[in-house]
Amino acid sequence: MSLRRAKISIIGAGNVGATCAHWCAAAELGDIVLLDIPQTDGMPQGKSLDLFQASPIWKYDAKITGSTDYADTANSDVVVITAGIPRKPGMSRDDLLATNAKIVGSVAAEIAETSPDAILIIVSNPLDAMVQRALQVTGFPSNHVMGQAGVLDTARYRAFLAMELGVSVEDIQAMLLGGHGDTMVPLTSCATVGGIPVTHFIKPERLAQIVQRTRDGGAEIVKLLKTGSAYYAPAGAAAQMVEAIVRDKKRLVPVAAYCDQEYGVGGYYVGVPVILGANGVEKILEIPLSDEEKAGFAKSVAAVKSLVATMATLV
Ligand SMILES: NC(=O)c1ccc[n+]([C@@H]2O[C@H](COP(=O)([O-])OP(=O)(O)OC[C@H]3O[C@@H](n4cnc5c(N)ncnc54)[C@H](O)[C@@H]3O)[C@@H](O)[C@H]2O)c1
Repeated sequence: MSLRRAKISIIGAGNVGATCAHWCAAAELGDIVLLDIPQTDGMPQGKSLDLFQASPIWKYDAKITGSTDYADTANSDVVVITAGIPRKPGMSRDDLLATNAKIVGSVAAEIAETSPDAILIIVSNPLDAMVQRALQVTGFPSNHVMGQAGVLDTARYRAFLAMELGVSVEDIQAMLLGGHGDTMVPLTSCATVGGIPVTHFIKPERLAQIVQRTRDGGAEIVKLLKTGSAYYAPAGAAAQMVEAIVRDKKRLVPVAAYCDQEYGVGGYYVGVPVILGANGVEKILEIPLSDEEKAGFAKSVAAVKSLVATMATLV
């Protein structure tokens, strides 16, 4: 019998990476390696030691290692890639394309070498293109390479709906499709409070405002922070995906998954509802869409295709 903790490596020990390590440790999801570039000079080691020192207080058992050497990440079960630059005010996610495509490409190549059986969760932006890059470089099975966007966008939507209705966030369910943020497609019929459609309680014009705030959820925080982008909720979302995999929870969540025949996408990453478990994206669920949702989804897919085409000229 071989029983061991899952090994989770998080590449990029900045705001999202370190916070993801925090959520993963607190939920006792496994042993954690937090890796950054050598120029960070002790930063991943310092953050990891700090996080380990919190473990007696918050009662989690985990080996937490800070490193700049991929050898320490060898044979990881799950790798979360947050390496790259974040947005500053006035920047769109797409403005990060050239820099982050190179960074994600180099990280993915290292992971393919050291953890050939890992399941990869990409967080770096522009998300849908970065996942495609990781798939191209690693050559991993496409269900083992995915992106985090929908869990965050859904959480933002659920948080704003709970705020509007004055109810627990736990009682709100929602589902979104499409690209991250600006091109996301909320499925109005899937937004419920205690199983009751939210449209019973919120007028269409108000719901449209909440959807728009969700769409701009990242930009609202970038504007407030001024020096970077959101990280608590993005990191929490990535940690929830790690949990679904290491605990084989079969969560039904929106994930940037590789769709070929599904939804007629033709070989690109786009946000769709999936079953997430120990084998990564175990199933992509195809659900009927209204004409408006179909049009929004087509716009998302077109945006992803155009980004991927631009990326091909840059790497
Ligand atoms: N998908 C999402 O929902 C979502 C949400 C928030 C942020 N993001 C993205 O996540 C990324 C990270 O954001 P952040 O706020 O943590 O930024 P950050 O600047 O705080 O951290 C990024 C880290 O990556 C490291 N890094 C750079 N090149 C590297 C390399 N080659 N190998 C390893 N590490 C490397 C940097 O040294 C830095 O520590 C950004 O691209 C951001 O846009 C995505």
